[in-house]
Amino acid sequence: AFDKLKEIPPDAILGLMTAYQADHSPDKIDLTVGVYKDNQGNTPVMRAVAESERRLIETQASKAYLPPLGVAGFREGIRRMVLGPVDGTVESRTAVIQTPGGCGALRVAADMYRRTGSGDTVYLSNPTWGNHRGLMTAAGLALEEYPYYSPSTHQLEVDQMLDSLSRIPPQSLIVLQASSHNPTGEDPDAATWEQVLDIIEERDILPLFDLAYQGLGDGLDQDAAVIRAAAERLPEMFVAVSCSKNFGLYRERTGALLIMGKDPSHRKVLETQAANVARGSYSMSPAHGPLIVAGIFEDPKLHQLWLDEVNEMRGRIQGLRNKFAQALANERSDLDFSWISHQRGMFSLLGLTQNEVDTLREDQHLYMVRDSRINIAGLQGATIEPIAKAVAPLMS
Ligand code: LMR
Repeated sequence: AFDKLKEIPPDAILGLMTAYQADHSPDKIDLTVGVYKDNQGNTPVMRAVAESERRLIETQASKAYLPPLGVAGFREGIRRMVLGPVDGTVESRTAVIQTPGGCGALRVAADMYRRTGSGDTVYLSNPTWGNHRGLMTAAGLALEEYPYYSPSTHQLEVDQMLDSLSRIPPQSLIVLQASSHNPTGEDPDAATWEQVLDIIEERDILPLFDLAYQGLGDGLDQDAAVIRAAAERLPEMFVAVSCSKNFGLYRERTGALLIMGKDPSHRKVLETQAANVARGSYSMSPAHGPLIVAGIFEDPKLHQLWLDEVNEMRGRIQGLRNKFAQALANERSDLDFSWISHQRGMFSLLGLTQNEVDTLREDQHLYMVRDSRINIAGLQGATIEPIAKAVAPLMS
């Protein structure tokens, strides 16, 4: 059987991360995978996470199975982090299942959507994070795109997007990144989100919000604003939550899926369906990361420390954005780089061709994703200027 299988090229993001690790050049620079780094290029364990983990290891008496939906304190804390102080109805309509990272949540959502029999197509922004395609295809969904952003003008394509959304067939699934859009860094403003929600409501489209960077854009509450607005007015939605970046728990695969139904009586159905999807694939999600996060949510001091650390990361990313925009402007006074400062989150698209990206990697050991996405959080004080000098001549 196995001889029928063919080798698959490395993943568009993880493959480059591995190639970087294998590069022995002392000049190499990594702007590939979306992990936060400090000014020395390290990705330290967050202080609140280290302390919560220490307490967990000291007190944990067993590794026996937990209930299929996951750690209660984690699920409750995530519901509050995402939905904020909502009225009790929204809360009682929303099922929460712990998942292996944001990817696990996206996949469970896609599988559940398939089970509804409402459709077999998912709409993704153009461009979007590469793995959305893989995750949705693996669940058997056909892919369609809606216009979102132009890398050449560095702007959202608002009119084209709204026009395209207003032609999506009812009951289709649409993936919307709630904030810090990957790979563009460009998010709709509040007025545009209102228009998007109008269309979704009118056309009875099912939104799957991807919330992978909450806290790293404009703030924990601001980054979930569209989800909270949707919760007030839409009958149903999914929210895929990742704790990879805002808790720095990348490899611990910590995430959750929120599923909001029409009324509280649907919640049990949604919980049992989600748990059943999980059981048929990975059975249940790992608990180490969720127990760490629950420990943070449940201790006011640790919670405050975590909030401070998230704010610190966000502030540093914004500072790097401003410095990088300035460094580019120093090289190219003919261009306006303010879009880099006003974009949010870890990523921006430089708008280079794949050939240019390949040449930068091969000749200068500067690694970025082939669509010219850079991880802003991977810039360092000392690398900003050389990177600006390398890329500015290619930009427009
Ligand atoms: C990224 O986009 O770099 C991150 O979300 C990591 C990943 O899994 O691709």
